[in-house]
Amino acid sequence: MIKKLGDIAKWLRSVNNGYRFTLEPIDGPSKQPISGPFSAALSKYGTGPGVHKWLHYWVFYDQRFAALERPLRILEIGVQSGGSLHLWSRIVHPDSQIVGIDINEPCRRYAGGNITVEIGSQADSDFLKDIGAKYGPFDIIVDDGSHIAEHQEISLCALTPFMAPGGVYFIEDIHGRGNTFAGFVYGLAMQLNEMSLDTDVFDCHVNSVQRHVSTVEFGAFFAAIWFRNHPMEKLQSSKWGDDWIPYT
Ligand SMILES: C[S@@+](CC[C@H](N)C(=O)[O-])C[C@H]1O[C@@H](n2cnc3c(N)ncnc32)[C@H](O)[C@@H]1O
Repeated sequence: MIKKLGDIAKWLRSVNNGYRFTLEPIDGPSKQPISGPFSAALSKYGTGPGVHKWLHYWVFYDQRFAALERPLRILEIGVQSGGSLHLWSRIVHPDSQIVGIDINEPCRRYAGGNITVEIGSQADSDFLKDIGAKYGPFDIIVDDGSHIAEHQEISLCALTPFMAPGGVYFIEDIHGRGNTFAGFVYGLAMQLNEMSLDTDVFDCHVNSVQRHVSTVEFGAFFAAIWFRNHPMEKLQSSKWGDDWIPYT
């Protein structure tokens, strides 16, 4: 039996390695210069509620969470020592609402001002739906909770209906090559490529992911799902110019 398991492990490793490829390094500075509201706030953070994140997440935050000047609704799963909730509140418009959820009761102490903390599990879809109904729709959701793949999937499915138009759902700490939640998000991204042509007019019918999701991004340990400002009812192409050669 053990021999068989060993063989399976060996086979899995060989299959996995088949998918591994290396990229030639790109010349350039080894440290990406960081600038933006998050790195600026972190550079003078000093004392206060503890915050702990992979540095490259801040680079993404700085580059991609740019529209912070209007009031936003933000939900962060995983409060821990309250640091990231407080960072959000220092950066975003003062009329923004920041909600943190955690299973740990003492996290309530980080509520105050425009920060609300609710206690419950991200694996409990009824709890999440109540949160969505009470505080949504959300412009930004960050899942920095248990980091358990099954929980991440439950949360994404429960909270998607509470995304605001143009909002982003950012999942942190997706670790491991065989991560099943990564597989779930890849599956969503694959649905963006589904093509169901209406040949008469050369338009494409959309599935529900294409209708609501504009982009899925992956980075080291994270994924970001961007929602459309308006549902896309069909995918269309167009032609310009009048000089065409025939296809061979
Ligand atoms: C990585 S920490 C959060 C860090 C925080 N977002 C920050 O950046 O400073 C993870 C938190 O998730 C909480 N947590 C663990 N399992 C959870 C669950 N099932 N539902 C909600 N929160 C959970 C833990 O209690 C912990 O406080």
